[in-house]
Amino acid sequence: MKIVVNTSRKQGKISKYIYGQFAEHLGRCIYEGLYVGEDSDIPNKNGMRADVVNALRELQIPVLRWPGGCFADDYHWRDGIGAKETRPYMVNTNWGGVVENNHFGTHEFFELCEQLDTEPYICGNVGSGTVQEMRDWVEYMTFDGDSPLANERRRNGREKPWKLKFFGVGNENWGCGGNMRAEYYADEYKRYATFIRNYGEEPIYKIAGGPNNGDAHWMETLMQNIAHMTDGISLHNYSFEESWSNRGNASVFDEKGYYLLMENALSIEKNIKLHEAIMDRYDPENKIALIVDEWGNWFEVEPGTNPGFLYQQNSMRDAISAMLILHIFHKHAKRIKMANIAQMVNVLQAMILTEGDKMVLTPTYHIFRMMKGHMDGESVDIDYDCGTAGVDGIEVPKISMSASKKDGILTISMCNTSLSEDEEIEMCLSGDSYTDTNAELLTSQHMTDCNTFDAPETVKPTNLNISFENSTLKLTLPKMSAAVITLKNE
Ligand code: AHR
Repeated sequence: MKIVVNTSRKQGKISKYIYGQFAEHLGRCIYEGLYVGEDSDIPNKNGMRADVVNALRELQIPVLRWPGGCFADDYHWRDGIGAKETRPYMVNTNWGGVVENNHFGTHEFFELCEQLDTEPYICGNVGSGTVQEMRDWVEYMTFDGDSPLANERRRNGREKPWKLKFFGVGNENWGCGGNMRAEYYADEYKRYATFIRNYGEEPIYKIAGGPNNGDAHWMETLMQNIAHMTDGISLHNYSFEESWSNRGNASVFDEKGYYLLMENALSIEKNIKLHEAIMDRYDPENKIALIVDEWGNWFEVEPGTNPGFLYQQNSMRDAISAMLILHIFHKHAKRIKMANIAQMVNVLQAMILTEGDKMVLTPTYHIFRMMKGHMDGESVDIDYDCGTAGVDGIEVPKISMSASKKDGILTISMCNTSLSEDEEIEMCLSGDSYTDTNAELLTSQHMTDCNTFDAPETVKPTNLNISFENSTLKLTLPKMSAAVITLKNE
């Protein structure tokens, strides 16, 4: 296949926040996965697992959403501050009915963000919290002056306010966040958002709880009613093997299951286009962002694990579908300014899985690391026409590609969804001239290959052989693989 990359035809910036993550008080994401406490035998810094934090730092995670998810609308921030032994505990009724001791609260979240060098995105409680509770939380975190709340923060060990840019006003308020009608939520949003004051240097970027999948009425109602007082509207869109009621298994599937997942993942674009069209009508100047703050593959839990913990393995199939979706976000980067994969550790399409003091990096982790050069890059024009791949009447594009330029580096990512055919690629780079290529490949023997605690490196990146002469790249992109090539401007 022949491809032309016109590196001087820029198509708009890919916000780095598209590579954001999500960590909820759910299963073993926060506790065990990220936070083990200061007294743990597992090496930690101020309670945060050193091995996990070090691995995550490699991803240069731009933003982290917390504390939920459904948990956010059941969370009362005051329970998570002060001396740990006196913090009240609660039952996490959303996720497995386990006891939540609140040892990981506001101060611990900001500590984690500092260790990861990532920006915090906090989701507030609309479903079961009060307006006052939300306004007080923002003051507690961000006010530098003399106030009872700011002084309480100081007494709890944090002198200076934290920098908090992103704040979500509720989560899935059409469902676990209160089962509201869109019209009711729009009114509630206005009331809550009014009291989110700006204490810091930068105004708080407010994100409204948006629609699920293709719920056009929810988006239409928000755009009609709250567009004047929101910066972003969220979208939640998960992928399944077939449907919510037939989610499939993360590591046991056949060829049909592989392609069905690809088809399902790609269908996110239909929902994005639907919401973009509504947003364009009310906001032609593109001031309000679409924030895909929950996305990823959602399968049945691993056999024998707590069904409320959403613990699933992660295979080559997840890696390829992640690249497909990230490419879709790149394509729609004019409207999509942030996305947060669900979730960071031990839950759904995770970057990392842990068991006791062991940890493995998932194939999805490798994709995020390989693709990080796209963050804040200028998308460049890429012209290609590829065939399809599939089985039993399911057809998906065989090749997906994206290219961007930043600081004199051109990053090209591509994947081959076919389970049976390699693809010969000849890519002509027009525009600037490049040298110094580097190419990484992620592939494996079988589509169901995963990294396990016994075999943690079954799926890992290797070098991809390429030739680069006269501005032309030549390579073979193996079946079922993903690759990232970087080139330096001469
Ligand atoms: O990510 C798991 C759950 O999925 C979140 O808590 C909720 O917002 C969504 O339904």
